[in-house]
Amino acid sequence: MGRLDGKVALVSGAARGMGQAEAQLFAAEGAKVAVCDIIDDEGKAVASEIGSSAIFQHLDVTREEDWAAATAATTAAFGKLDVLVNNAGIGEIVPFAEMTLEDYRRVTEVNQTGVFLGMKAAIEPMTAAGGGSIINISSIDGLVGATSVLHYIASKWAVRGMTKAAAMELGDRGIRVNSVHPGFIHTMIGNPKGTPRPEGRTVLDDFTARWTPLGRTGEPEDIAKLVLFLASDDSAYSTGSEFTADGGMITGYPSPGTES
Ligand SMILES: NC(=O)c1ccc[n+]([C@@H]2O[C@H](COP(=O)([O-])OP(=O)(O)OC[C@H]3O[C@@H](n4cnc5c(N)ncnc54)[C@H](O)[C@@H]3O)[C@@H](O)[C@H]2O)c1
Repeated sequence: MGRLDGKVALVSGAARGMGQAEAQLFAAEGAKVAVCDIIDDEGKAVASEIGSSAIFQHLDVTREEDWAAATAATTAAFGKLDVLVNNAGIGEIVPFAEMTLEDYRRVTEVNQTGVFLGMKAAIEPMTAAGGGSIINISSIDGLVGATSVLHYIASKWAVRGMTKAAAMELGDRGIRVNSVHPGFIHTMIGNPKGTPRPEGRTVLDDFTARWTPLGRTGEPEDIAKLVLFLASDDSAYSTGSEFTADGGMITGYPSPGTES
């Protein structure tokens, strides 16, 4: 028996990275899944590998009409919508002094407006289904500051805040809304010209070895398992909450002279 038996989920940005891991784990746990992304070939490959429990639907999260089409395709294929993972996101490193308004708008349009539109589009079908679970993928960058990612920080704090505001207004429909805050994970977001899991040890691995109590970079599956918990009825009494999976990175700092 799967933890998502009978549930129907839509995952944005599911063609690779964490979204792919979430779609695959959801299907393995009994869900029907709409794999949604702007990179169609990769998304179709993920859906066809999952098989008859999945469909692929082109979805640019910044376009309201794409959201209407994606929720309609999901309910047409599988009858309802119970779970939405607002996972699609972009990131880039730009020092604040060099950041343009265009940079700021590009990142916030996907990461922030995309989540707003996704939650809006889910309200009607989830209400019709008698409730649901929305999981918004923020970041540790929605909990603290970081250098050279001011636009990304703005978008991820906004996701955290919108999660709480939406949770308060949607609870009486049986819709739960929670945010997930990953630390550094092996995906292509921080390595757009590379591969998701480069051979051998990387600069990122040296960084996480130094700065996380658990001493390693996270894997997409580490986050997918947490998202699975929030999608399932195991988290039935959680809404408006923050769930962090960062190897302990933002837990605190060493006392002077005790650093190892
Ligand atoms: N990798 C990390 O270290 C990390 C840490 C914290 C949070 N996150 C967040 O996790 C989420 C997943 O990122 P990832 O690390 O798997 O990155 P990734 O780049 O591997 O995957 C992101 C996916 O989103 C898709 N996407 C981008 N713009 C889109 C749009 N406009 N509409 C629809 N899909 C779009 C991409 O095509 C891609 O498939 C993002 O929200 C990201 O900000 C990542």
